Parts: sequence; C-alpha cells; structure tokens
Amino acid sequence: MVNKIIETVKEAGKIILSAHNQESSITAKEGKKNFVTKYDVAVQEFLFKELSKSFPEAEFIGEEGENDFSTSGLRFIIDPIDGTTNFMQDYRCSCISVALCEANDVIAGVVYNPYTNEIFSAEKGKGAYLNGDKINVSDRPLSDGLALFGTSPYHPENTDETFALLRKVFDLSRDIRRSGSAAYDICMVACGRCEVFFEKGLQPWDIAAGTLIAKEAGGIVSNYDGEEINFSTPNDVVFANPNAYKEFMILL
Ligand code: IPD
Ligand code: CA
Ligand code: CA
Repeated sequence: MVNKIIETVKEAGKIILSAHNQESSITAKEGKKNFVTKYDVAVQEFLFKELSKSFPEAEFIGEEGENDFSTSGLRFIIDPIDGTTNFMQDYRCSCISVALCEANDVIAGVVYNPYTNEIFSAEKGKGAYLNGDKINVSDRPLSDGLALFGTSPYHPENTDETFALLRKVFDLSRDIRRSGSAAYDICMVACGRCEVFFEKGLQPWDIAAGTLIAKEAGGIVSNYDGEEINFSTPNDVVFANPNAYKEFMILL
C-alpha cells in the first residue's frame, strides 16, 4: 500500500523540481502571508487523479479546495506543497505530505522532500523509514537537543504565545530551528536529528502523515493539552521523543 503512495508522490515531486518563476505563479492570496501558486494546485490535482486509480474507494481531503471533514471511511489527507513560502522564494525546503486514514486513524503516511530526495514513510504497526532504512527518534533530552518550531504565520493571534514559549525552549535547549515546512520538521524529530517540534493551529494536512511517521519512530504526538490529535480540525501540536516531550510539557 505504502509503496504505491511513494511511487505516486515521487512522480508528483517532479512537478515541484521543474517549477520556474514560482513567485509570479501565485493564483490566490489570503491575508498578508498565505499564498497559493499554480504548482500547489497542479501537484494536488496530479495526486488526486493518480491515487484514485489505485485507491478507487478513498475520499480526498487536500489543502487546495473545498473539503468535507465529515467523511469517516478511507480518506487521503494531502498537502501538495508544505512550505509554499519557501517554494515561492526557491528556498528549496518544501515537502509533499500524503496520509491515508480510516476515520481518525492514519494507516499510511508519506512525506517527500524532493530537493533532498528524502522519502519518509510509515505504515501502521510496521515502523518508520527514510529512503527504506528504519528510523527512530533520538533519546536526547531537550536540554541537550535541538528544538523546531512553526510561527503559526497565518494566525497573528498566536504570535505572542508562540514567541513567549520559544524563549523558554531556547533557554533550555542547545538551539532552535525554523525550516518553513511543518511536515519536514516532524520528520526531523522522527529520524532523531532534532528532539521537539511545536506549532499552534496546524491543519490536518500539515501533520497527518507526519503523525504516523513520528509515532512509528517511537515519538510522542499530542496537542498542547496532552490529548490525541484530531484530523478534522486545526490543532496546537507537539512532536517529540519521550524524554524531550516531558521537558517540553513542563515548559508549556
Ligand atoms: C505551512 C508550513 C509552515 C507552518 C505553517 C503551515 P503551507 O504550510 O508548514 O512551516 O509554519 O503553519 O501552514 O501553507 O506552506 O502548506
Ligand atoms: Ca502546510
Ligand atoms: Ca500547502
């Protein structure tokens, strides 16, 4: 199952790699920071079309377009380009994120960074992989580790809380990083390069695939109240190894 998704996502990555004049390809704009390019739409359309051939019974939820979150059967939750601002400026850190879910349960997840040719994947109960090699979270505590965060850029009402918490995390940790792709950040925790990722107000398509990958790699995933993530609404999220999770929740 996951191999079929990987194959399709790799093909879709070619659309991202062959893009040019990204900044002039903006097709919509919501507020000051949130953009959509023709490539976001093209990647999503390609994925919907190709995946529906292999999974004809599945419904589709994707960032670009109207979505029905009331479906409870087999459904894909897709972010065609996670890191659109990076993509527009050719910063070369953006991912395709594809999750296959049954109700609120992610059963397969793939995150692909076409710039680094890294494919992170997981199938429920079968572990997490980077380009076919098994991955695990680190056991570093946050106090000896790196923390990743998102700025919740489309929700200015979250800015004060995000940066107040960031200050505490910075003081405790070795340092902080901001990649501009939540899906990639989650995978950085899953493969043990970093210890914690946190951000307020993330959408289901930002985190669905990463949630399974992080859990299968031995990570802990929750909202800021320590509860399971809900894939029908936005969530304030933390992804971490078990040691770092405890320290982060105390700061929070
Ligand atoms: C965004 C990225 C970013 C995060 C935002 C997301 P998009 O997704 O993941 O890192 O800070 O909250 O919305 O809009 O580029 O798909
Ligand atoms: Ca996203
Ligand atoms: Ca996106």
